[in-house]
Amino acid sequence: MVPQTSDLTSQSVSSLGSVRCLRNAVIGTTGLCNASCVHCPTNKASTAHLLRQPMPMDLFERIIDELGRPAFQITGFLSFGLFGDGLLDPYVIERAQLMKQKLSKVILHVNTNGAAYSRSKHLPLFDLVDVLALHLESLDPRIYDFLMQPLRAERVFPKVEQILNDFPSKVFIAVPVSRLNIEERDTIYCHFMERGAYGVFFAPLRGYPETTLGKTVYLLES
Ligand SMILES: C[S@@+](CC[C@H](N)C(=O)[O-])C[C@H]1O[C@@H](n2cnc3c(N)ncnc32)[C@H](O)[C@@H]1O
Ligand code: SF4
Repeated sequence: MVPQTSDLTSQSVSSLGSVRCLRNAVIGTTGLCNASCVHCPTNKASTAHLLRQPMPMDLFERIIDELGRPAFQITGFLSFGLFGDGLLDPYVIERAQLMKQKLSKVILHVNTNGAAYSRSKHLPLFDLVDVLALHLESLDPRIYDFLMQPLRAERVFPKVEQILNDFPSKVFIAVPVSRLNIEERDTIYCHFMERGAYGVFFAPLRGYPETTLGKTVYLLES
């Protein structure tokens, strides 16, 4: 069942019990994504019941207020973009401004695949975000187009170049590693570090039930 706005703040406080310190937190600021990466539950039949729309601002503000209570302390970072794309959220700038006002010491990440990047809309984020976490799985267009379908490398790679130019030293490349891209790790690392990325993170691919895809996709060595 989709939780109602009114449920969440009281529920989340009580369910955290004795937790006093959070290392990192990720907020699903929107349920909408323009991709359906083969290993992600987003935009699959099993998640079709989830709302593909932005989180209401009042709910977002309550979460930020709750995270700012003295009982909690984020020691790592707060990210926007869980199983939706951070840059498809129409309120990303407003949320970042609010978060920086209320949680000024917390590091802000925005998670995106980069396809929705628009200079005119998103350049103001430069002064607000600490890290733009850019998810890109391959520099080989055939592999990219398969893993991050239905995105197309020929359309997204120019946006990635714009992001690297517009957010110098703030771009952190996130690469879930599978057997389709494992041999590319050095190339990907050098490519982005030479272009001024802040870092490249190779994430272990976390499995989710194969039935979610409706077919078996062997991305990991068996
Ligand atoms: C689920 S995405 C949501 C935000 C945005 N759409 C994006 O792709 O960055 C957040 C992060 O999860 C990672 N991710 C997605 N599926 C994964 C999986 N099965 N195992 C490990 N990381 C995964 C992506 O690489 C991305 O860095
Ligand atoms: S871009 Fe992000 S949220 Fe969208 S399908 Fe890929 S990993 Fe999932």
